[in-house]
Parts: sequence; structure tokens; C-alpha cells
Amino acid sequence: MEHAILTYQGKTLELPIVEGSEEEKAIDISSLRQATGLITLDVGYQNTGSCTSSITFIDGDKGILRYRGIPIEELAEKASFSEVAYLLIYGNLPTPEEQQIFSKHLTQNSMIHEEMLRFFDGFPPTAHPMAILSTMVNALSVYYTDYYTEDFQGDTFDLMAASLISRIRTIAAYSYKHSIGEPHVYPKRDLKYASNFLYMMFESPVNPYVPDPDIERALSTLLILHADHEQNCSTSTVRLVGSSMVNLYASICAGICALWGPLHGGANQKVIEMLEDIRRNNLSIKDCIASAKDKNSKFRLFGFGHRVYKNYDPRAKILKKYCETIFKKYNYDDPLIHIAMELEEAALKDDFFVERKLYPNVDFYSGILYRMIGIPTNMFTVMFAIGRLPGMIAQWKEMHDAVPLKIGRPRQIYTGSTIRPYVPIGQR
Ligand code: CMC
Repeated sequence: MEHAILTYQGKTLELPIVEGSEEEKAIDISSLRQATGLITLDVGYQNTGSCTSSITFIDGDKGILRYRGIPIEELAEKASFSEVAYLLIYGNLPTPEEQQIFSKHLTQNSMIHEEMLRFFDGFPPTAHPMAILSTMVNALSVYYTDYYTEDFQGDTFDLMAASLISRIRTIAAYSYKHSIGEPHVYPKRDLKYASNFLYMMFESPVNPYVPDPDIERALSTLLILHADHEQNCSTSTVRLVGSSMVNLYASICAGICALWGPLHGGANQKVIEMLEDIRRNNLSIKDCIASAKDKNSKFRLFGFGHRVYKNYDPRAKILKKYCETIFKKYNYDDPLIHIAMELEEAALKDDFFVERKLYPNVDFYSGILYRMIGIPTNMFTVMFAIGRLPGMIAQWKEMHDAVPLKIGRPRQIYTGSTIRPYVPIGQR
């Protein structure tokens, strides 16, 4: 077996090399501390693998993304969101029978307990929808206790996974209706995943929702593009929290909170706010690029850069093309897309961005498409969360399927005071 050799204080240690199915390699350092007393230090886990996984493959240099081996481009074009959810969680595309059972579980678990509606009344109308979403997902654990399980393979897990995927959509739509002061709309049995969400969002007693297959497909595509992205901040959070053996709802709630941040899923809201700011204040693209490069300024070009992609994010490529096609078809124009394209062109020519390999990421164009669908800006990250949920569940399941389950517990290098005595308050 291939190994790496580490020499420390005259001692030599052979560390095994682990190789993945796409020839990615890692040094297994699990014996390091016992043999040498050393730990590894890697702030922000820039170069640390936390697990092996067979769910999603990314080649950041080449701009490749595959779910269970299937290229994202094919899934975005041809698959339904529920098929992709099944693929991520169970490893293969569903057979017709499996799809039928999965869809039945989604439909039968789409409503939330009526008592939970009172929770919405407790939130101020200004509450951020991500705060509502994470709270309500955790609150599901109070109502659906039958789904707590240590049998991660069984029927109970299947129901729990489908019920979360279905109910998160209902919660999101209800929180929107609550925020605009309209009565909530119950899910419909005969609608597919994305269509049902749009129906619950936009149906009203005075303005019936008119389904549009192109818009429904656009939403499905967006959700598919968000569905998994291996060990990102929120998914790693789900794994870390779940490794304590807490239930799935609590683990997902923590993941949703992590996703909210503007460096992660919250970037989609920030991108639109940034583009709107440029438009409203008539800012020049040149000045924006200069601020993004200025180390004394807190401004970042939201929707640009990625820890893993050092090439065009394949999801951004799909979305940019998608926006262009659907806008043309609908003769729809959004001034923000022109600003976005100008900003992209200027950044991609700028040495600062070129040297650091900073390209548009998934969040750069997703908001523009969400705007066309009619989703309000403060709900963009909620949309990301709905899309990402199957991936989070798949990663949680994969971790629990592994034997033995290891609690996640990083180490540290302590840099504080060395031992000193307690001094009573009057003597300080
Ligand atoms: N605008 C300006 N400079 C940037 C940007 C940006 N968007 N992104 C990275 N840089 C610079 C950064 O200042 C640093 O420069 P230097 O080497 O001179 O110090 C260098 O590029 C490396 O950046 P980093 O922050 O060390 O890279 P990271 O891997 O730690 O962070 C990131 C990745 C996504 C947090 C970062 O690129 C960023 O803040 N982007 C904007 C927020 C954003 O769009 N987030 C969504 C990511 S995609 C959705 C998801 O999966 O979460």
C-alpha cells in the first residue's frame, strides 16, 4: 500500500495513503497523535477530509460536479427534484415502483400539524424567513416523535426523510403567506414537488395560481442544482451535530442555521442586494471591483469565489445559460442581469480575480432566476435550504450507516494563559 513518510524528532512514521474512486488521495493521519504526540492544524479545514463519502464528487479545478456519478448537467436538464432526492439518499435513481412509494410518502407527509400554525403567529412580520424555517424544522421534532429512530435503514427512516423533504416546503410557503398577511394554502395531492410549492406560495382566494410548466421546471432545476455539494459548511454542520446521535430534525435545523450566513447560502440574498445597490446608487462597475479588492473595505463581491472551485462553478454556468434562454422566451428583462453580466466580465478580466481564480458561484445567477419566478429576495436562502435538504439527509444517513459511528470532535492548540491562581475580586 502507498504511504507517506513523516520524520519528527528522529523518528519515522509511515502514514497510509487513502485513494478515492476518482484517484483523489489523502494521508490517513489517525495514528499520528499516538505515535508522535502531534495533532494537525488546519484552520477552516482548508485541507482536511472529515470523511470518505460516495454521494457527491467535485473536481474544483475542472469545474465538475456529479451526484452519485451522474453529471449535474444531465440531472439539471432531465431529472425531477424528487428523483434527485432519492438518488442522493439511496444511491441510485428510483425504479418506477420506488419512485411511486417515495412520491406517496412525500404526498402523505406534506401537511404540518394544525397546532403548528400557531407558531407562525408568534413571529413578528419582520422575522427573517431563515429564522422561521430553522425554528419550525426543529419544532417538527416535538410533533413527529414517532420518527426518532436508531434504525437508520428502516421504514421509519424512509418516512422521516420524505416527511422532512415534504414539510420543509410547506413551512417555507406558510411563512411567506404569513409575512404578507394572507391565509396559508394547503398542499394539493396531485401536484409535483416544485408545482406544489409554487401553488402554496401564490394561490390566493382572489388571485388563483396559474401553473406554468417553464417556471415549474426552472424551480426544479434550481432545487436540483442546490441538492448536494459534499462537505460544505452546512452539511458538515449536519454531520457534526448528527454525530452526537441527536435526531435528524435537530441536525438539519443546525445545518439550516449554518447555511444562512452570507459567505455560504446567504450569499444569494446578498448578491441581489449588491446588484440593487449598484443600480439604485448608479455605482460604477470599476468602483465595485476596486472595493472588492480593497483589503481595508469589508465589501466582497458576493456570488464570486469558492473554497473548492478554482474554475467556473458548473452550477453558475447552467444558471446563466438558463436565465438567458428563459428570459428570451418570455421576453422578460431584468436590469440586474445586465449589471451582473457586466460585473462578471470586468471581474474575470481583472488580475486580482484571475490570480486568485475567483469565478461566479451558484449564488451569482440564482437570485435573478428566483426573482423571475416571483420569490421575494429574503426567501432566496430558504430556497437554497429546500434544495439542499436531500443532500443533508443523504450525508446524515451515510454517516450513521458507517460502523462505528464516531462523534465529531476536533482538537486545538491552546494559546491562552498557562496556570495562574484565582484572585478574589477585592484584590484584582
Ligand atoms: N470578493 C473579493 N475577494 C475575494 C472573494 C470575493 N467574493 N472571494 C475570495 N476573495 C479573495 C480573498 O480576499 C482572498 O484574497 P487574499 O489571498 O489576498 O487574502 C482570496 O480571494 C481567497 O479568499 P478566501 O476568503 O481565503 O477563500 P475561502 O476559500 O476561504 O472562501 C468564499 C471562499 C466562498 C467564502 C469566498 O470566496 C467568499 O467570501 N465569496 C463571497 C461569498 C459567496 O459568494 N459565498 C457563496 C459561496 S457558493 C455557495 C455555497 O456553497 O456556499
